Amino acid sequence: MRSLSVLSTAALLALATVPGSAFDYNIIYPQQQKEAFDTTEVPRAPLPWGKVNFLHTTDTHGWLDGHANVPSWGADWGDFVSFVTHMKDKALRKKVDLLLIDSGDFHDGGGLSDSTSPKGAVSDSIFENIDYDILTVGNHGVRTGAEALNIHQNLSRVFGDRFLTSNVDVKENGILKSIGNRYRAFQTGNGLRIVAFGVTVNDPVLRDLNNTEVYSAGWIFKQTWFQEAMKKEADLYVLVGHAPTYASCLDPKKDNPLVCLRDRIRNSTDKPIQLFGGHAHHRNFTCYDDRSSGIESGKYCDTVGWVALNNVSSPTWSGAKALLGDEPHPNKSCAVGNQGDIQDTPYLLDRRYLDWNRVTFAYHTVNLEGDTGNPSVPASFDTPLGRKVTDDISKARHLLNLTYFLGCAKEDYCFNCKKVGQDGNIYELLKVALADTVVKKERAHLARVVISNDGTIRDNIYQGPFTTGDAYAVVPFPNYFQYIANMSCHNFKKMASNLQAKQDVSCIDDGDHNDSSVIDEEVHGSQPQSHLELRSIFDDPSYHQATFSYSLEQRNRERKQYSPGYTTHDALGNDGDDTLHSPVIEDERYMKLFWANASFPNLSHYPPSFDVVFTHYLTKRILDALNKTGAPYTEKDVIDYLPRAYTSREVLVDYTARNWDQDRENCPIRRPGDR
Ligand SMILES: *[C@@H]1O[C@H](CO)[C@@H](O)[C@H](O)[C@H]1NC(C)=O
Ligand SMILES: *[C@@H]1O[C@H](CO)[C@@H](O)[C@H](O)[C@H]1NC(C)=O
Ligand SMILES: *[C@@H]1O[C@H](CO)[C@@H](O)[C@H](O)[C@H]1NC(C)=O
Ligand SMILES: *[C@@H]1O[C@H](CO)[C@@H](O)[C@H](O)[C@H]1NC(C)=O
Ligand SMILES: *[C@@H]1O[C@H](CO)[C@@H](O)[C@H](O)[C@H]1NC(C)=O
Ligand SMILES: *[C@@H]1O[C@H](CO)[C@@H](O)[C@H](O)[C@H]1NC(C)=O
Ligand SMILES: *[C@@H]1O[C@H](CO)[C@@H](O)[C@H](O)[C@H]1NC(C)=O
Ligand SMILES: *[C@@H]1O[C@H](CO)[C@@H](O)[C@H](O)[C@H]1NC(C)=O
Ligand SMILES: *[C@@H]1O[C@H](CO)[C@@H](O)[C@H](O)[C@H]1NC(C)=O
Ligand SMILES: *[C@@H]1O[C@H](CO)[C@@H](O)[C@H](O)[C@H]1NC(C)=O
Ligand SMILES: *[C@@H]1O[C@H](CO)[C@@H](O)[C@H](O)[C@H]1NC(C)=O
Ligand SMILES: *[C@@H]1O[C@H](CO)[C@@H](O)[C@H](O)[C@H]1NC(C)=O
Ligand SMILES: [Zn+2]
Repeated sequence: MRSLSVLSTAALLALATVPGSAFDYNIIYPQQQKEAFDTTEVPRAPLPWGKVNFLHTTDTHGWLDGHANVPSWGADWGDFVSFVTHMKDKALRKKVDLLLIDSGDFHDGGGLSDSTSPKGAVSDSIFENIDYDILTVGNHGVRTGAEALNIHQNLSRVFGDRFLTSNVDVKENGILKSIGNRYRAFQTGNGLRIVAFGVTVNDPVLRDLNNTEVYSAGWIFKQTWFQEAMKKEADLYVLVGHAPTYASCLDPKKDNPLVCLRDRIRNSTDKPIQLFGGHAHHRNFTCYDDRSSGIESGKYCDTVGWVALNNVSSPTWSGAKALLGDEPHPNKSCAVGNQGDIQDTPYLLDRRYLDWNRVTFAYHTVNLEGDTGNPSVPASFDTPLGRKVTDDISKARHLLNLTYFLGCAKEDYCFNCKKVGQDGNIYELLKVALADTVVKKERAHLARVVISNDGTIRDNIYQGPFTTGDAYAVVPFPNYFQYIANMSCHNFKKMASNLQAKQDVSCIDDGDHNDSSVIDEEVHGSQPQSHLELRSIFDDPSYHQATFSYSLEQRNRERKQYSPGYTTHDALGNDGDDTLHSPVIEDERYMKLFWANASFPNLSHYPPSFDVVFTHYLTKRILDALNKTGAPYTEKDVIDYLPRAYTSREVLVDYTARNWDQDRENCPIRRPGDR
């Protein structure tokens, strides 16, 4: 493992040219980032340990500094480093295996990863302090050839044969090359023989088609290295995927490569197959058959996934014959219940989703001090390496100007707790900010709309101090603003309707106040389902549930007293979350496009014509929609509205700095128990 003069001196020096960076380099913070809070909520029970265990992260997107305003996710990567060190020690004592897995998407999110060039110049060297056994690249690693090449030449080399890309290539000097290794066959410390693959979903819309390639599962099956891999002796197949686990594979030429690869391996062997998915930004667990299943472990350093397998049999196993220690053992099964035709003793397993905080990390390793209502993390938790990584993150955040206080968020602004149109919904906040900041002086007095899209927002704003780093994380993608001058309301309305916008438009000049462009709910069919819609898994007759100890209703009643967070229902039941929470509307998106209005002569009416301003990301879609609805606009009518240096990423920074309360001392976060 690359050692821990982490923040390679070169990277730090490069950063040190940031203007005005006068910071104290000698502080070693005692724990996490100094602005962050720790939770007071303690996990519900010790982890079940099997003979083969996994810790899984995915979709970290650069959030290695944690979530300063969210106590449940307050830990940083240094705390995670300490946690992993203790867990590894524990596994050694128990003589069982513990493997570390990551499913990709290292960048495009937090400022720590995105505010450097290349992306990840600093955050990757922090990430590298976890000694992963298997990891793969995400779709966000192949959006530009430059980024893919950076991962190929830097991150992938650090992990060597453990960085797997079974289906992803990047062009280097004009020749397509695998970003990492195609597969890995190895033996664990206890002699278990593993064959592992790493696959990634193809995203042809946003991928750099000129400089990267993402192949289908069907392509993999034809490669000689795949046939070679399938000839290796294996006790367990480990498939790491930047892909959801719950899709089905009907056509290996185009369907989810992770699930197709599982199906293909199952067609040639009945050995256990363990999947580690990602991309979904959810917690979930899927059973395929009695000895193959897959986990998804959240996003943005909010979750550590845990999988424990009890019954992987291996002639070369040299570890514990019986399970040691006080912890419970996995006692769930993916097998179809009581069918009578299962000859083997069941293959037992379990899973858990850990909240990303120090109380959780210490609870499962060195134990907590203090009483239940007021737990504290003992000093023995922090390892020298963990402290160093925490300190490096602090330095980097200061150098990259991510800690600059912009203003106080007096409440949460979210896309998963308030409906569109309600105060507290983050899109409503962004509309106000767009109207306030995207202003061309010469045309400020003219009516305009400013259009953006739902994907602009990547996270909630949580009550408490709002910093430049938070602004980065909420709107990570820089898009400059363009416009079409003085479009008729008519044309705008038809265009909005063609783009399936869900915002009402009625034009005053045509008397059609009734005829709005609001589209039915069903256009939203392709959007991710709400996490709270229990319909999906519990009503599906093919869904097997091993242990389901008490009713959802009962659990929800009990959960009322907890802070909001994940409440996961997966293929093994509803006891996967390590810490109990009250439900939120998980990751539901309400709009495709939305817009703010400004300088409207009458707020309740669209004027007959107005400027239509939009992010550059939308230019092509807007022109296509205008064309399809017969409006005579071409690229020539699209003009830059502001200098290109002014992007969507500046909007919240400017707005909050000008309009939000500046009293940092009097800016509390929301803690567990607050209403
Ligand atoms: C940090 O960012 C803020 C907001 O953009 C800016 O006002 C300030 O000058 C920056 N500070 C440094 C040291 O670059
Ligand atoms: C590899 O990382 C170094 C240090 O951050 C950077 O200068 C270099 O450009 C990276 N390579 C590529 C291909 O991006
Ligand atoms: C891809 O290559 C084509 C042909 O060389 C070029 O026209 C196009 O702009 C390139 N696209 C990107 C995203 O670089
Ligand atoms: C696996 O075998 C089944 C049954 O023969 C077949 O329908 C399916 O296409 C195979 N899947 C793969 C990915 O090979
Ligand atoms: C979770 O996985 C199940 C299959 O096990 C699937 O039906 C469900 O849609 C998934 N839920 C989410 C929120 O992705
Ligand atoms: C399964 O293990 C859990 C602890 O992880 C324990 O609470 C539960 O009683 C066990 N269930 C059965 C059926 O043994
Ligand atoms: C599975 O593991 C449990 C606990 O170690 C053990 O009791 C059981 O016999 C095992 N089953 C098989 C098939 O090995
Ligand atoms: C906008 O267009 C209308 C005709 O569609 C015209 O009457 C009006 O003067 C134009 N306004 C501006 C500011 O160009
Ligand atoms: C508006 O809708 C109402 C009720 O649906 C209808 O009675 C009225 O005629 C409509 N007006 C126009 C201008 O279409
Ligand atoms: C705005 O329009 C409404 C009718 O839609 C009207 O009642 C109101 O008087 C108008 N306000 C102004 C300031 O013109
Ligand atoms: C214009 O924006 C204001 C403030 O957000 C809002 O109250 C009003 O309904 C909007 N008007 C139209 C016609 O959308
Ligand atoms: C739409 O695009 C097509 C193809 O470029 C062009 O022929 C047509 O004139 C355009 N329609 C309008 C209304 O501009
Ligand atoms: Zn992601």
